[in-house]
Amino acid sequence: MPSLPHSDELIFFVNGRKVIRLTGTKYSRGGGGCGACTVMVSRYNSTTKAIHHYPATACLVPICSLYGAAVTTVEGVGSIKTRIHPVQERLAKCHGTQCGFCSPGMVMSIYTLLRNHPEPTPEQITKALGGNLCRCTGYRPIVESGKTFCVESTVCELKGSGKCCMDQEDGSLVNRWEKMCTKLYDEDEFQPLDPSQSKQGERITWITPATLNDLLELKANFPKAPLIMGNTELGPSIKFKNEFHPVFISPLGLPELHFVNTTDDGVTIGAGYSLAQLNDALHCIVSEQPKEKTETHRALLKHLRTLAGAQIRNMPAPSFHHTSHLSLIPLNGPFLERSPEADLKSEEIVSSVYIPYSTQWHFVFGLRMAQRQENAFAIVNAGMSVKFEDDTNTIKELQMFYGSVGPTTVSASQTCKQLIGRQWDDQMLSDACRWVLDEIYIPPAAEGGMVEYRQTLIISLLFKFYLKDPQKFPNIPEKFVSALEDFPIETPPRNSDCVDPHQPLQDPVGHPVMHQSAIKHTTGEAVYTDDMPCIDQELFLAPITSTRAHAKIISTDISEALALPGVVDVITAEDVPGDNNYQGEIFYAQNEVICVGQVVGTVAADTYAHAREAAKKVKITYEDIEPRIITIEQALEHNSFLFDEKKIEQGNVEQAFKYVDPIIEGEVHVEGQEHFYMETSSILALPKEEDKEMVLHLGTQYPTHVQEYVAAALNVPRNRIACRMKRTGGAFGGKVAKPAVLGAVSAVAANKTGRPIRFILERGDDMLITAGRHPLLGKYKIGFMNNGVIKAADVEYYVNGGCTPDESEMVVEFIVLKSENAYYIPNFRCRGRACKTNLPSNTAFRGFGFPQGTVVVEAYITAVASQCNLPPEEVKEINMYKRISKTAFKQTFNPEPSRRCWKECLEKSSFYAGKLAAEEFNKKNYWKKRGLAIVPMKFSIGIPTAYYNQVAALVHIYLDGSVLVIHGGCELRQGLYTKMIQVASHELNIPQSHIHLSETSTVTVPNGVLTSESMGTDINGKAVQNACQTLMARLHPIIRKNRKGKWEDWIAKAFEESISLSVTGYFRGYQTNMDWEKGEGNAYPYYVYGAACSEVEVDCLTGAHELLRTDIFMDAAFSINPALDIGQIEGAFIQGIGFYTIEELKYSPEGVLYSRSPDDYKIPTITEIPEEFYVTLVRSQNPVAIYSSKGLGEAGMFWGSSVLFAIYDAVAAAPKTFVLSSPAAPEMIRMTCVDQFTDMIREIPRDDPSTFTPWSIRVS
Ligand SMILES: Cc1cc2nc3c(=O)[nH]c(=O)nc-3n(C[C@H](O)[C@H](O)[C@H](O)COP(=O)(O)OP(=O)(O)OC[C@H]3O[C@@H](n4cnc5c(N)ncnc54)[C@H](O)[C@@H]3O)c2cc1C
Ligand code: FES
Repeated sequence: MPSLPHSDELIFFVNGRKVIRLTGTKYSRGGGGCGACTVMVSRYNSTTKAIHHYPATACLVPICSLYGAAVTTVEGVGSIKTRIHPVQERLAKCHGTQCGFCSPGMVMSIYTLLRNHPEPTPEQITKALGGNLCRCTGYRPIVESGKTFCVESTVCELKGSGKCCMDQEDGSLVNRWEKMCTKLYDEDEFQPLDPSQSKQGERITWITPATLNDLLELKANFPKAPLIMGNTELGPSIKFKNEFHPVFISPLGLPELHFVNTTDDGVTIGAGYSLAQLNDALHCIVSEQPKEKTETHRALLKHLRTLAGAQIRNMPAPSFHHTSHLSLIPLNGPFLERSPEADLKSEEIVSSVYIPYSTQWHFVFGLRMAQRQENAFAIVNAGMSVKFEDDTNTIKELQMFYGSVGPTTVSASQTCKQLIGRQWDDQMLSDACRWVLDEIYIPPAAEGGMVEYRQTLIISLLFKFYLKDPQKFPNIPEKFVSALEDFPIETPPRNSDCVDPHQPLQDPVGHPVMHQSAIKHTTGEAVYTDDMPCIDQELFLAPITSTRAHAKIISTDISEALALPGVVDVITAEDVPGDNNYQGEIFYAQNEVICVGQVVGTVAADTYAHAREAAKKVKITYEDIEPRIITIEQALEHNSFLFDEKKIEQGNVEQAFKYVDPIIEGEVHVEGQEHFYMETSSILALPKEEDKEMVLHLGTQYPTHVQEYVAAALNVPRNRIACRMKRTGGAFGGKVAKPAVLGAVSAVAANKTGRPIRFILERGDDMLITAGRHPLLGKYKIGFMNNGVIKAADVEYYVNGGCTPDESEMVVEFIVLKSENAYYIPNFRCRGRACKTNLPSNTAFRGFGFPQGTVVVEAYITAVASQCNLPPEEVKEINMYKRISKTAFKQTFNPEPSRRCWKECLEKSSFYAGKLAAEEFNKKNYWKKRGLAIVPMKFSIGIPTAYYNQVAALVHIYLDGSVLVIHGGCELRQGLYTKMIQVASHELNIPQSHIHLSETSTVTVPNGVLTSESMGTDINGKAVQNACQTLMARLHPIIRKNRKGKWEDWIAKAFEESISLSVTGYFRGYQTNMDWEKGEGNAYPYYVYGAACSEVEVDCLTGAHELLRTDIFMDAAFSINPALDIGQIEGAFIQGIGFYTIEELKYSPEGVLYSRSPDDYKIPTITEIPEEFYVTLVRSQNPVAIYSSKGLGEAGMFWGSSVLFAIYDAVAAAPKTFVLSSPAAPEMIRMTCVDQFTDMIREIPRDDPSTFTPWSIRVS
């Protein structure tokens, strides 16, 4: 079995370019945590005599473990070349794909579920998708597509009305896609589901024993060889931690490990069972046995429901409960803590797990608290068990174990011992809390940080356990009951909005046309950069990155790396023929490094594995340089900035402060965010033999920028560099500036070696090198009247820009210009600066600073409300713009849609009734609190520099009547190409099937601008429209003469008359400007308005929260494609929820980013969607933009802040210490709610901060 030069995981064999090249199984480089590589594994079960199908993440499945199994990839499910499967069709038609990178994995998860359960329940759908991440859609349409397979399909509100125009019979698939529908999709059109459809290496030895005895013998012969079961623990260790094992023993197929044995005392389950099989077995037992006997089984079931995702649960064995082959090992402290006396001997293996029944006075409790509800490692988990003397509340036996509070599971055995014989009462609880805190010590610099929070959880979970005793609490006080209730994992319902029924059916504009690549996304046939076939002589590139934040490079030794097999070259700064430092961006570090993660060199080798191995062998010695600046605070101390201050001001702020009632001052910290696009940065650089030409295929939002940087690095004119971009698996701003630098890095390697270079970043490298959203510190001083009217505001913003300029200047400009949001403050001053630090350079991210900056605005409005003793929504309404006005930088605008959205949102969400109900709930519940918040929005579109809004398009008509459209915009996921087809179809008055868009390239459209700022459709649409209108003007005389003729006839005639059928369309751009000297300008072409409200429930004991409902009212003016626009809003909202509530980047004080994988950085999963979720597109006029539409790509991010402020509203209902910051992650929520447990923690004497270095620090 090979380990090097290739990989031994299934993903390599199916999508390894050199083996069977099935590229549908996507490799998102996430170590099993993202689900993009999900495949279906099928095995024959000799006991049940049936084939068992289960989903698995191909990146963790060793190929050898599949002996005797069948693997189905997305290609085996359906294809556009043969027949697509209903799962693929419905996912596409329900608009469940955007960038499409996650889509094959989604298809495989649903498909596998249907193979086992042809008519699943909605809960099964949600459960099946729990291990699949999607960064684009917001999950709702994906779940909805799955729910169309449920018996009671609830997805279509118009079902049975017979009004759908898609209900026509036949036609080819292509034609049917073109039919128009007033719903977002029509499930009556879906194909029915047919349930019967089926369709000793280089360095490592893999041994599969045939019997249990063989296994034990092998274990004795190879004592260090791991038993490989699910490989979900070994796999990531081998992959990411350089673990190496020359021998693996795979006992997975042994029948002796696959059994369930029930006796009078308990149940024994074979160690070969997967967690999913264990789950099924436990369910069976629980349903058959009396409740009192199954306390342990039910506690385990509860734990299993949220552990990992469906794929991972189907792979691993229940290795957390063990008995050996010969002797029984009790599940006790020494065993769990891995103490040597409990170690398995080399000849022993775990053969089964025995779970005894509980008795009448025995109670078992399991609880875990994680950053998100499902598929996340626990922050703290606990297993507790108490036996009482019969019919009393005297403790007879007690066990308490905690996980994630140290390197192994920890038993609070001393505490338990001391409590034997005690009454289960409040005094016992109080003693238990103090003793357990003494016994379980978490050092102040403990790995994982969150020390006080974890200590608080230790006793908060103990309190939950305490409440469980029905002796002491036969009737728990009603106020406390909710403390015991877990948040349910709900299946989200259908979103409410539909299409305007008055829109003419024949006009594609205004209709929910499916994403042009949707079917290809779901069949896995959409080609991304890394899917491109390997090219002769191709080399793989691996980066060598700096391990110091600010240091001199003393020496670099590449000899060991060069000596490794397959290594062709090591590339460094010396190899850059042109500029190595272009516009402040450094391609290869030279002499000095300025952040951890800076590219110091690259290794080019015949395989990625060789390149990566060699990169690790490059030895660099450093000498640290002072100062090392990591945080904004440190930057302010050192006066370290990237650019001059940006400022706007209106009125007389100083004067106004003299005449207000109170003045408040405050600070708000907003942490950064990782883009976490599913397709990591990917580049294919192809040097040409002649004229120093080079072609780059890559995922970028700005091909011109890449061309510019590559030309500068290679010192060639730009006309020698072609950048081609077909699609990318998500970008969100992360592919605006970074691909230019990475493109230059790859191009230098291609130039030096003279060979094609494939540079695909691992997830960890991508997260480290490309950085993300700017962390922000906002400082405010607000003067207001006692009635809530704000008279004066002086606000300062500082962002952590990192080590190079990147897009930081633009981000600061946008923060300052957008800083008033929807509020009019007559005396207003706002200043912003980008701090220069030794972190990787932060960059553009959806909303360009608006999502961070507006947290500060909403925070001070909330603070004013609190001071005035008024509800925040009232203070917001008082201060909102009400009539045609000028912004603080003197641009005139009409806020009427903003008022309308606000009013409708309040009314239709029943906001005030909701508030009353929440107040009632809060009175009745001590440990759970509900909160609501509504936020208004005024979001500007575009860039204040006119020439950044210009763009060209090319439209060719061929003699068969088919049309090719090319423009400067990039298809990132947002459906830009789909909308351009709609525009061309509308303008040329031909069916969409006549129109094709192939790719975006600097060869066809030169000097294109970035696809960003929600401007893609606006500007490219105008250019396409311009080209089509010119063509129609040329065709007009021919059409007039032959009105009954067909499109093809007119084209033929035009050719005969020598009329050119190729046109360049152009849009000069909106005439925007901004004079920063004066602080005035016509900065933006128009604004998008809206309002959103959310309701949450928080668990004050753990810090978890549940999003109960969200209503979004978005001013879309006229939506060109409501399905795509709603998809943008929902997707941005869910990304916003991640930003404002769970996504946390962790940095060491030395500037090392710890969170570099889906394991340590949690983006929302399906369980984060609101239980009730309504998005309404509000109509208005926008004559400036094409078809009176509005750009909606970014604004929705901000709606996530309605959840942040709803959490604060809920927390405000609990006793609290209140300092607003973002994200409102579980730690922040828990530590904000003050109670006897947090008091107890704060009384613990703390180590002197000068005696230790904290594990992580805040960089905002
Ligand atoms: C994406 C992802 C998400 C996860 N999420 C969670 C989560 O939310 N919560 C959580 O608690 N865990 C989570 N995990 C961890 C997961 O539960 C463990 O990886 C799993 O339990 C390990 O089981 P396995 O069969 O895959 O072990 P393997 O990786 O196959 O083996 C692990 C070790 O156990 C030993 N071993 C295995 N079987 C036996 C046996 N029968 N006798 C003796 N030794 C044996 C092996 O020698 C090896 O050293 C997650 C893992 C991944 C990859
Ligand atoms: S469509 Fe799911 S990640 Fe892009």
